Amino acid sequence: MTTTTAAPKSQGLAGVTAGETAICSVGQGKLVYRGYAIDDLAEHACFEETAFLLLVGHKPDAAELSAFKDEIVGYRRLPVGAVNLIKEISKAPGAVPMDVLRTVVSYLGQFDPNCQDISPAAEQTKSRQLLAQIPTIIGHMQNVIDGRDIVEPDDSLGHAANLLWMMTGQKPSDESTKVVDVSLTLYAEHDFNASTFASRVIAGTNADMHGAVTGAIAALKGPLHGGANEKAMDMLLEVGAVENVDSYMANAFATKAKIMGFGHRVYKQGDHRAPILHALGREAAEKIGPEATKWFDVGEKVQKIMLDEKDIHPNVDFPCGMTYYALGIPVPQYTPLFVAARITGWCAHILEQHATQKLIRPIAEYVGPENLKW
Ligand code: SDX
Repeated sequence: MTTTTAAPKSQGLAGVTAGETAICSVGQGKLVYRGYAIDDLAEHACFEETAFLLLVGHKPDAAELSAFKDEIVGYRRLPVGAVNLIKEISKAPGAVPMDVLRTVVSYLGQFDPNCQDISPAAEQTKSRQLLAQIPTIIGHMQNVIDGRDIVEPDDSLGHAANLLWMMTGQKPSDESTKVVDVSLTLYAEHDFNASTFASRVIAGTNADMHGAVTGAIAALKGPLHGGANEKAMDMLLEVGAVENVDSYMANAFATKAKIMGFGHRVYKQGDHRAPILHALGREAAEKIGPEATKWFDVGEKVQKIMLDEKDIHPNVDFPCGMTYYALGIPVPQYTPLFVAARITGWCAHILEQHATQKLIRPIAEYVGPENLKW
């Protein structure tokens, strides 16, 4: 008779080591992807290099990177059924871009002959297909929302530039491309965060990659997780101006409201990604003008109050909101862009989980009624 020894119990598994990974280390001291510190990657690696590192496990050489980039470019276009689905659901009343993205990813699995194949080779291919297709889904969705014709992928553009091109129909500046490229690297991976852990629980039953990614997108949407980047910008727009910050924050504290883009389950002395993106976004905003720097002024005052009065630091979602707003990206596409980055981390974890062939199934402490008679 095996007795289940009680593992450490905590609300929301806080502080519980739920497994091991060779992909990423999230710690108070630093954030590392497969041995490389995030500030090193943000400064020296493009997003395609980061994606290769996470999916394959090592830094690509020139030939590997070139082949990887060509492979992704080749996967960018969607099956016509997926384009029609995007056209149909993107303009439905109350359509939410994260729900559209989740639905289309799930749909794509139906038309992938490899969908049920969870072998490493098949999942490497599916990872690259999803990495390439998610920006196209986002771009086509935004075209429908804007009432414009569908903008096809431009094979001459890199990953970040092509994403912006498909969303707007205009070739992005090198500056905008660089900022988005770095944001994708910063967002790419973060060990057992809620959406990644959700994808591992699904993969842990030997379910397929499209199913695990669909679940991860559903989890990331929540405002306590990836959805915070949109809510953070919504909050700044509601505050409206620097002179309103003090009264807004006083009211928020009085009503015990959560300030979106602040706090973190693991980082208690600050999110290593936040200052990197804040500096990059502020620099871009300075070149754009006061209509862009205004939101950094408002945000920096919110940040000072959160630090001075609550000792709570911003997470990566806070600078993301201000930065993407400065670049003219529609707020409801912020979390979908997070998906365009995190698809690399999710797929790396799904591959790693499938390699363990281990079901994830914790125990629960029963606190309900006992000994009732029916
Ligand atoms: C992401 O896990 C990851 O790695 C995620 C992520 C990734 O890359 O995958 O980093 C991305 O999801 C970042 C987090 C985005 N979410 C938000 O910005 C939403 C706002 N943040 C909070 O809801 C909160 O900070 C969480 C959910 C992020 C973490 O919550 P915890 O660890 O469960 O901590 P808690 O909610 O119990 O807070 C502890 C205390 C509480 O005060 P008391 O009730 O003990 O008095 O700190 C307070 C909280 O009220 N607090 C906040 C706050 N965050 C914590 N108070 C106001 N505003 C906040 N944002």
